[in-house]
Amino acid sequence: MNAMIGGSSPTKLLVTAALPYANAKLHLGHLRSTYIPADIYVRYLRLKGHEAIYVCATDEHGTPIAVKAEKEGSTPKEYVNLYHKLILEDLLKMGCSFDIFSRTTYPVHYELTQEFFKRLLNKGYIYEAEYEQLFCPKCTRFLPDRYVEGICPYCGTEGARGDSCESCGRYLKPIELQKPYCIVCGEQPFIKKTRHWFFKLSAFQSFLKKWVKPLPNNVKHYASQWLKEGLKDWCVTRDLEWGVPVPVKGAKGKAIYVWFDAPIGYISATEILSEEKRKPKLWVNYWKKKTSKIVHFIGKDIIYHHAIFWPAMLKAHGKYNLPARVIAGEFLTLDGKKLSKSRGWVIEVSDYLRTFEPDPLRYYLTAASPLQKDIDFSWDEFAKRHNDELNDILGNFIHRALVFTDKYFNGRIPEPNALDNYDKEFLQTIKTYHKHIAKSMEQFNFHTALKQILELAAQGNKYLNDKA
Ligand code: 2FM
Ligand code: ZN
Repeated sequence: MNAMIGGSSPTKLLVTAALPYANAKLHLGHLRSTYIPADIYVRYLRLKGHEAIYVCATDEHGTPIAVKAEKEGSTPKEYVNLYHKLILEDLLKMGCSFDIFSRTTYPVHYELTQEFFKRLLNKGYIYEAEYEQLFCPKCTRFLPDRYVEGICPYCGTEGARGDSCESCGRYLKPIELQKPYCIVCGEQPFIKKTRHWFFKLSAFQSFLKKWVKPLPNNVKHYASQWLKEGLKDWCVTRDLEWGVPVPVKGAKGKAIYVWFDAPIGYISATEILSEEKRKPKLWVNYWKKKTSKIVHFIGKDIIYHHAIFWPAMLKAHGKYNLPARVIAGEFLTLDGKKLSKSRGWVIEVSDYLRTFEPDPLRYYLTAASPLQKDIDFSWDEFAKRHNDELNDILGNFIHRALVFTDKYFNGRIPEPNALDNYDKEFLQTIKTYHKHIAKSMEQFNFHTALKQILELAAQGNKYLNDKA
């Protein structure tokens, strides 16, 4: 069970949703794991009177973006400009009520990331070391992770990428690949020494062991496993032009690793919101005041980065609040089968929106399964839940209540006559439900809250029938 953090007294709450890579359109899986739950939560907090903001951005660096742009003959900047626009359009149409939707290519983000890096360097949490890396003789450059593919040393799958194998899910280093080849020119690279910067993640082992304790079960489960295996230091720079430049003399051509700069995007987005609103204290209040709480919504594939790497980075920096909760949504299958973009087994948000309204999907993705369990989407089930639940129960109740008020009371809620016992009991039922629903919401059990709302609506329908 998730402990509550909303509580009754108004607090500042910063709600974030994982920053989508600006290199692909979003699909229903993204909405379900991350963007809809975060939006539900922040809307609830605002209604309750908390000072809650919803912050997101596109994640615009990294080798996959550089590789894709290079393959398609465009520049990374052109590429991310396009996808930033497409992603934002979809999310807004789906009703996501962001206070800001920033970009990791904004100058404020570069400054903040470089400041973060330098501070960790000065505090000794980032160190420079020699590193063996693959070098392509034809392209005359080092090949950062995704620029190289080969055979996975663990499961033997061909076409494994330099950072991970899709088939067995293991994280890899490019030099571990067997029969590696440069994905730009096909040439076989060789190992060459270069210098890189490493984050001393290993120093945070015992801190993280305590820190993960109050996290939700699924997050804690994975995090504890990694902690048991023991944390290794992370290489946080790449030989890449596309990214935040490493702010150190002699580091020309090297960029900060995308997974170092991306989460800092949560902070830079808040800072940019502050600037937009001309409230210089706003971002400081959310990120540095102890009375503020940070809640990250993510998909389960990036738990490592949010439950291990990011809190360690924040702890090392020392001036920012750490997340109070990390909520990880599980995966979505389509007719029982895993989503696969390459096999076309996916529903993109924009495709859905061509035919349907956002609310039925928001309803389905919340009602069909708890966030911490996988969910299956099928059009039949979608139609059924829409018609039998959203329409016949909740929609019907709201429609009846509004039409009734409009028709008989000129659209105003009248003063009640004397209440009979049934009325009184029903008022009590509403109060009890209100309490339960709030509790479910504050424990991040949106699925349960929605079920309770539907139950209450069903009782409302019965009340109207009985009192007809
Ligand atoms: O996995 C992803 O899609 C990443 N772009 C998420 C980044 S979240 C945060 F750290 F910025
Ligand atoms: Zn090459």
